[in-house]
Amino acid sequence: MEQSVKPVSSLPLNPHIAALPPYNAGMNIAMARTLSGRHDIARLASNENPDGCSPAVMAALASSSFEPWRYADPACAALRAALGEKLAVDPDLIVAGNGSEEMIAAISRAVLVPGVSVVTTVPSFGLHEIEPLAAGANVVKIPMTAEMGFDLAALEEAIAAGPRLVFISSPWNPVGPGLDGPSLQRLIDAVRPGTLFALDEAYFEFADPGAPDGIQVLRGSGIDHVVLRTFSKAYGLAGLRVGYAVCSGLELARVIAAAKTPFNVNAAAQTAAIAALADESWMEASAARVRAERLRTGAALAGLGFRVAQSQTNFLFFDCKGDSSSLAAGLLKQGIIVKAWRETGYEHYLRVTIGLPADNDRLIAALQELVAR
Ligand SMILES: Cc1ncc(COP(=O)(O)O)c(C=O)c1O
Repeated sequence: MEQSVKPVSSLPLNPHIAALPPYNAGMNIAMARTLSGRHDIARLASNENPDGCSPAVMAALASSSFEPWRYADPACAALRAALGEKLAVDPDLIVAGNGSEEMIAAISRAVLVPGVSVVTTVPSFGLHEIEPLAAGANVVKIPMTAEMGFDLAALEEAIAAGPRLVFISSPWNPVGPGLDGPSLQRLIDAVRPGTLFALDEAYFEFADPGAPDGIQVLRGSGIDHVVLRTFSKAYGLAGLRVGYAVCSGLELARVIAAAKTPFNVNAAAQTAAIAALADESWMEASAARVRAERLRTGAALAGLGFRVAQSQTNFLFFDCKGDSSSLAAGLLKQGIIVKAWRETGYEHYLRVTIGLPADNDRLIAALQELVAR
């Protein structure tokens, strides 16, 4: 049957939403199988945990106390209590989200109105720009330095100019480094009243021992702030969607909670996150394995002649000195999914997630072959 498609709609759409850049979510395994003709896909593009998740999570989801037919607690009281205990934070300062991405959206809804400014980095985690743009804010993006690090002086200046909101990820997605204690302090010192400082620590657990703990550092800072963490990375629960925001004050936490949907964290996610927190040793052992593989894989990529950024995460970001899309396409033919960076000016960078040792070996061998051509 022929369908008539109206070329232009007369419906007035929200112009901020209609103009949003797409979020680059990466390729799924089924698509990679179709495109590569291979079954054995190594997905090294989404910064998932190669070790999976704690067996305690699977046991909790299989137990009779998990009741998926009931609405989950909209306040996530048990999860927030467990987090409060682990972090030594008042649970009322914690808001749980459907992934930390929902908290990025909720923070933006809570504090932004059209026309205010937001400071972030470039390259950046896409939602640090997309959610402010959705709220009609202007986004100021501070580029990484030539050495692939944070440009502290430029960030200080932009933060001191008094934006409504600052989104910094540390450790930094997609580049990799983390702010050390003095660097974090410099940025905190630049924050003026009227600015909310949002520190996104999605990769916190992968950082080397001695890295600053943003929750502890910011607690004593006196500035309005939020620290974001997630169960998607080191705890291996990406598919269940649970993350959280630790806020500097009760009123801020109340308004961020008001900006989320009521039953945002589903029952499986709450059950799994509580079980994962009760098995921290699994997470710590997994993060240690990732750190060791990060070191080994990073050294191998540098040995192939790539300029690799310092990393405190479960991924590596490197300059492939040409269009990274063609290198990514070459890897895909061999069944390896990676992320060719698409932000303007950064199209020659590739981000690869640390996988299991065999996946990393496969990546190194494939890159070796591709650079030799
Ligand atoms: C810096 C950063 N923040 C937040 C997120 C969102 O994670 P999730 O919504 O799975 O918690 C990601 C995911 O990749 C990320 O890299």
